[in-house]
Amino acid sequence: MDITELILEQHIQQRRLFALLDEVPLDDTATLGALWHLLARFLEVHAKAEEEHFYPLVLQLHADAPGDGDDAEDETVDAVKDHNEIRDAIADAANHEVGSTGWWQAVRDARTANDEHMGEEEHDDLTAFRRVADLQTRHDAAVRFLAFEARHLGGVARTHPDPEQYVREHRPD
Ligand SMILES: [Fe+2]
Ligand SMILES: [Fe+2]
Repeated sequence: MDITELILEQHIQQRRLFALLDEVPLDDTATLGALWHLLARFLEVHAKAEEEHFYPLVLQLHADAPGDGDDAEDETVDAVKDHNEIRDAIADAANHEVGSTGWWQAVRDARTANDEHMGEEEHDDLTAFRRVADLQTRHDAAVRFLAFEARHLGGVARTHPDPEQYVREHRPD
């Protein structure tokens, strides 16, 4: 198992679920609501699992690699900011009736924020992580990531971490 493969695989599942919403008849709000509930919970649990079990390792391992520490901190700040944008859009969707114009706008906002974020995570963060993390580390992190998700199948409490503070709390001393 490899945490970078696991994250990539879950991004593909997220893209599929967003695409699936477009396949549902517009008046079938029960199906739209059920799929969105699943996807929103998945997005929030995935983001939290990354903040618990991926980005702390990014900060730690890059700090150990000469010259890489500052980049890792900037990338992590960006990632947490992006996660918060996705969370905001999910929270906004909850303020609208499923299938309404406002709901679709919030879902589109979540999709746009998530698409941009996944692109950056895949291009930058996962790629950089593979350079500094050996296979055993990637395997162990994947197991912890999956265990976190398994423990939170019902969802996570919505948090909104301050990105700079998150980095201060998780970077190695
Ligand atoms: Fe991700
Ligand atoms: Fe992420």
